[in-house]
Amino acid sequence: MGRVPQEIIDQILDRVDIVEVIAGYIQLKRLGRNFKACCPFHTEKTPSFVVSPDKQIYHCFGCGAGGNSIGFVMSYENLSFPDAVKMMAAKAGVELKNYQEEEPGKASLTKKLYDVNSVAASFYQGNLKTASGKQALEYLKNRGFDQEVISEFKLGYALKEWESFRHYAEVKKVPIDILRQAGLVIQSDKGKKDYDRFRGRIIFPIFNERGYIAAFGARVMDNSLPKYINSPETSIYSKSNVLYGLNFGKKEIRDAGYVLIVEGYMDVIIPFQHGVKNVVATSGTALTERQVLTLKKYTDTAVMIFDSDQAGEAASLRGLDILVSNGMNVRIVTLPEGQDPDSFIRKFGKSKFDEAVKKSKDLFDYKLDLLIKKLGAGDIHAKAKIVDEMLPTIAKIENKVTQSAYLKKLTERLGVHEESLRYEMGKVKPDYSYHYESEAVTSKKSRSYKSSELHLLGLSVLNKKVFEIVDSELGMDMFRDKTIARLMRSLKKYFESNDKMEANKLLSRLEGDEEAKAAVMQALAKADITDETGKAVKDCIFCVKKENREEKLKELNSKLKKAEKENNSVQMKELLAEINKIHKEKVG
Ligand code: UTP
Ligand code: MN
Repeated sequence: MGRVPQEIIDQILDRVDIVEVIAGYIQLKRLGRNFKACCPFHTEKTPSFVVSPDKQIYHCFGCGAGGNSIGFVMSYENLSFPDAVKMMAAKAGVELKNYQEEEPGKASLTKKLYDVNSVAASFYQGNLKTASGKQALEYLKNRGFDQEVISEFKLGYALKEWESFRHYAEVKKVPIDILRQAGLVIQSDKGKKDYDRFRGRIIFPIFNERGYIAAFGARVMDNSLPKYINSPETSIYSKSNVLYGLNFGKKEIRDAGYVLIVEGYMDVIIPFQHGVKNVVATSGTALTERQVLTLKKYTDTAVMIFDSDQAGEAASLRGLDILVSNGMNVRIVTLPEGQDPDSFIRKFGKSKFDEAVKKSKDLFDYKLDLLIKKLGAGDIHAKAKIVDEMLPTIAKIENKVTQSAYLKKLTERLGVHEESLRYEMGKVKPDYSYHYESEAVTSKKSRSYKSSELHLLGLSVLNKKVFEIVDSELGMDMFRDKTIARLMRSLKKYFESNDKMEANKLLSRLEGDEEAKAAVMQALAKADITDETGKAVKDCIFCVKKENREEKLKELNSKLKKAEKENNSVQMKELLAEINKIHKEKVG
């Protein structure tokens, strides 16, 4: 299916009611003009998920999720935009003919990168069926892969040649610049041709949450090093954000009520083949907060599967704290010496695997057992050391009842007084500062906008009259936030030929532009047309003007200082005149 025209999407949005759509998935409770529920995209006990029938949008004040009815279906069912549109069209009784493919030059960079990755994946898949790929197919069979998972995970083979993929991409008319940006080729010295990054390796396409191919991992077929090479970080791929396998196991994770976290690609695919599908891999790196927040949309329980050599490592234990401090329940499975999930399930079968999962320990017991095993719990120094290690973990538990229960358990296991533990506990500050990882998350979750600008944007979307007032009294150049300014300008364009913009339709126009969508969601969450709107608009315009003035004054003053230093009296005079003018405007 090609690109569906905006009018058709509008038609769909006109015919479905967001309350009905969402109520088909989760239970909604009426609350004034809106409906409320516990957010299906993160774990919470008090509802902060709001559906607005007036605006035909939903928004979660807890995790920031939000969008229109198509967006909800995309997130909940984990569908791509076109697939969600298809599904909603069927619901709405809107016919989707085969629409024209998008003009080639017009697609966004993001789309081009996903497209080239899917071209590459098919190429590598095709290689498995050729004579030169025979050995690779053999390798996969030897490792226990059946044809079905090979197809489902789109496994492939990169030929042992320097330019085979680049030649293929040339025939497919993929610009070299896109191949480079996707990391599929490597630019050699000036004058020489680019060469393929992946050569003579098994290819694992790395899918993102929605099932688009974001990158590739590539394994050698012998014992040479490096075992894997991966795509470089690109604008659609960041190694520390992706959870390998999530696109395949989303539904099973929700159904099972927990996610199994493993290390490697193989440890996802082989259990999957054996019917264990609620698995994701961190791809050999420490779990990041971003990954944890992604998982929380599906479940609040993580079961880590460690192989035994990993178990004692302090680093892996600290990685677990990141789950705890984000409110996840953590359990740990330790596999027998030398086994990983892939080899374990092949050797012992699914029921033994399930059994091992059932016997998983919670983090507290796991860590305590490990420490006692390592240090012994006999003498007082060992006890003190164990307490030191355990208390920060306990401090991170949000739920006070659970926390208290764990404290009690620790005293029992170590035979120390609860009083003294509570005293020690008072000295421990929970360390939530995963600086190195949390930045990306917080900046994404709550980028702060200038609130008056945001409010004006929201009200302008909801009401053309407001927009006209803003346009005539402020104009478009006064918005200093770039995203808001951009949105106001496109709104202006839209209103030139339309009388009404609806929140849900605006969102569908912004599909793919995450930055703009986030701004609009925040704007709409705040804005409501009421009797007070006129006053609110006036206040916001006043504030925006004032902020602009202050900024301008700041700028002029620093110029003035500079001119003073340079004894440039002509410029000083000019600057003072300008400053005075602004002060007068303020009074006037
Ligand atoms: P493992 O070494 O456990 O590999 O690394 P594996 O997936 O179990 O593969 P087999 O069973 O030896 O064939 C775990 C994960 O760490 C990442 C990969 O994502 C791998 O799946 N890794 C490992 C790399 O990115 N590069 C490497 O060189 C090694
Ligand atoms: Mn392995």
